[in-house]
Amino acid sequence: MSKVIAFKNGSELSALNKNDDISYKIQPFIQEILDNLVVGDILEKAITKAAKKHQQLAESYFEYGANNIAESFSLKDEFLFLNHNPITSFSYQNKQRLLSKVGQEIIENESILPDIHNLLYLCGQSNLTYKQICQQISSYAIDLLDKLIKYKIVGEQEPSRKSIPQKKPGIFRLQHATLLYRTKTTGILVDPHLHSNYGISNIKNDITRAQLEGSVDAILISHSHYDHWHYPTLMMFSPEIPIFVPKVPRGSIICEDMEARLKILGFKNVTCVDWNADPIMVGDIEINILPFYGEQPLVPEYNQPKHPNLRNWGNTYLLRTEYYTSWFLIDAGQDPMGSMFDVAEYVKQKFGKVDYIVSNFQPLSYNSIGANLSSWGIDILGNLLSNPQILSVTNKPEGEHLATLGPTGVAEICKIVEAKSCLPYADSWAEIGQPGVNDEKLIPAVAIELKNLGCLSQVVPWKIGDGYVVNGKAEILAGALA
Ligand SMILES: [Fe+2]
Repeated sequence: MSKVIAFKNGSELSALNKNDDISYKIQPFIQEILDNLVVGDILEKAITKAAKKHQQLAESYFEYGANNIAESFSLKDEFLFLNHNPITSFSYQNKQRLLSKVGQEIIENESILPDIHNLLYLCGQSNLTYKQICQQISSYAIDLLDKLIKYKIVGEQEPSRKSIPQKKPGIFRLQHATLLYRTKTTGILVDPHLHSNYGISNIKNDITRAQLEGSVDAILISHSHYDHWHYPTLMMFSPEIPIFVPKVPRGSIICEDMEARLKILGFKNVTCVDWNADPIMVGDIEINILPFYGEQPLVPEYNQPKHPNLRNWGNTYLLRTEYYTSWFLIDAGQDPMGSMFDVAEYVKQKFGKVDYIVSNFQPLSYNSIGANLSSWGIDILGNLLSNPQILSVTNKPEGEHLATLGPTGVAEICKIVEAKSCLPYADSWAEIGQPGVNDEKLIPAVAIELKNLGCLSQVVPWKIGDGYVVNGKAEILAGALA
């Protein structure tokens, strides 16, 4: 049998859009402001000094009144709300190869994106030969395929590692925020990052696209933060696959219009549904779309974004199957628009008890994210600029104002919905078989909070690549993707 093309271990893909390009351009100016704040300047002085050094950036991209610099400082509206936010480049590298180089396609015309999508999808299937792929793609895509082979991004398949066990109903923990929900017949993939540039480059045996082939019937997207929303991974799946995304009233620098973006990539089956709308069935999994409150760049001192549409829009999802019910909470918490505790009360009333809560356990706060922009994804800059005065408080001690639930909030939700189990996720990339970097600290923290509340939910210490499967009762399936 001829060898087939698949994505290679260690390959990393990324795509940037115009918002990202703007953020990279203005980053030195904003970093300068933060540096000035760290040495003790007040916001007005920090902006004035930085603007002198980066005069052109300050004038081209920002506006502020001469008499109220700190209060009025803002990215210009035309950059907060781009009329059009096209993908501008697509990059690839295999950092596990000695002296590897970055390859890049500059996207001058978005009409080429469905061609790239088709190529990544055919490679992603991991069951087609070079010749079979070439027969189905444009001449541009054949050239790109040859480049991807040359850069060791794809190639003839390595001896295949274990695929996801398709007949085991349960939840599988992939890297960071990626989950795969399975019944015996249906699979729902959440916030996928595979062969991603966002994780840790030196992972020896990462989870590959090939391991999921045939296991995914639909994709759910929670929100457009970079660690949950990765164009190249999505493009490794069929243009026909159903994808559910949050509804975004107006795309902005803090939140992409995900539906519009996916359609331009060539996806034909993209749905955004109102919170609390009627459920949707995919195979034998019932999908309920619920609110996502919290994780807004707000602090008590600055508790409104510059514009009401500058919101990190998202969904949480409650999945019901004949085997289990699970609600995953992502990075949710509380904000002035609403609280996940109220949503939990609604869930309990409408759906009854929830078997498995899956949540980020980290207590994240915007007034303690630090002053080093390069330590975060580029999307954090857009977040901060939706509420620019927040720059003056990003270097405060940890935990003053939670944007996420944190251990206390997660435990409270478990109590309200009488969860059987509570599982951590979305707190880092790690080797298969290893816990998330904060799990060892946060799992006991949640367990203590549950005990304090008199809640019987069990915290499940699963690891990257594990499953939590229903086999009579639920149990960890260690190394499901090893
Ligand atoms: Fe997030």
